[in-house]
Amino acid sequence: MNAVSGTSATTQVAEGGAASVEIDRNLGMELVRVTEAAALSAAPYMGRGDGKAGDQAAVSAMRAVLDTVRMRGVVVIGEGEKDDAPMLYNGEKVGTGEPPKLDLAVDPVEGTRLLALGRPNSIAVIAAAPRGTMWVPGASFYMDKLVVGADARDAIDIRATPTENLHRVAEATGRPVEQLTVFVLDKPRHQGLVREIRAAGARVALNTDGDVMGALLAAYPGTGIDLLMGVGGTPEGVIAAVAVQALGGGMQAVRAPQLPEERERLAGLIDQDELERVLHLPDLLRSDDAFFAATAITGGPFLEGVRYDERVGVRTESLVIRARSGSIRHIRGIHRLNADHIFGDRGMDEVVEVIID
Ligand code: FBP
Repeated sequence: MNAVSGTSATTQVAEGGAASVEIDRNLGMELVRVTEAAALSAAPYMGRGDGKAGDQAAVSAMRAVLDTVRMRGVVVIGEGEKDDAPMLYNGEKVGTGEPPKLDLAVDPVEGTRLLALGRPNSIAVIAAAPRGTMWVPGASFYMDKLVVGADARDAIDIRATPTENLHRVAEATGRPVEQLTVFVLDKPRHQGLVREIRAAGARVALNTDGDVMGALLAAYPGTGIDLLMGVGGTPEGVIAAVAVQALGGGMQAVRAPQLPEERERLAGLIDQDELERVLHLPDLLRSDDAFFAATAITGGPFLEGVRYDERVGVRTESLVIRARSGSIRHIRGIHRLNADHIFGDRGMDEVVEVIID
């Protein structure tokens, strides 16, 4: 602890009494270079119908820049098991190898279909927390999620019906249900949910993919999205939990296996009580010292996507959130053509970054 500020910043008093302070590090400011590189590499694939190629480009770029970050990181949520994923596989060590020891959850392209079809809101995203503090989904691929902003975080209960939760959020935020907007993934499994939300009188924002962005929008004040409801990926749920926790929002989740093999594997690993247990934010992330960084690939109302600007280079917009301080930064970057780590032999070099709003 820092005797001066009460934070963990390291403070040394130099001879003569002058204090030299190494301000505690915001790792998010370094991780955002990683998501920028991934977004820049994936961006040429926008709308070209090949999400997999975009993902591969983003994975390579993310991997290369991650290794420049001073940390001893282990990917706990990555591209899958080693045999299927040549890079950023679960268990892969990344970073320079120096402390701090971290768990990393990465999604080089969250919303692969969004990228392939040129639809809004695909992002490159990474979350980091002290080693051993992130919930590892294991055989769980899908979970039911309920996310809200800070005002309503103590009001929700995922065990209650969607209608009940809408009324609770309405009361907590002092707004009628009719003024609430719910982000829902547009999937056949959500037909009943959507019917119920509509019957309750709330508005629905249907999106084909991208519920990390949905969770961000629900937890971040003033975005026009008040809740995220419905079943999405479990790894995405853990990544979202880092952002929601750092933003002071509320999140609850329950494993919701959708695939027969997922059900079978889970049944062999955990009992029914555990399967149905409500996971709260402290279950998903056992630390208040986490970092979240995301860069938009295809733009949306919240973050502008990668744009090519002949005069200055390539523009990006990113979000960096630090849980301990609660700081939120929107970072606009301008990158010049040339860096191998970003565009391989096509070359694209990052030059400037950081215009902090
Ligand atoms: P990918 O980028 O990995 O394809 O994930 C996109 C996504 O929409 C996530 O945001 C969401 O959690 C998950 O897929 C939902 O899975 P499914 O499309 O199988 O219902």
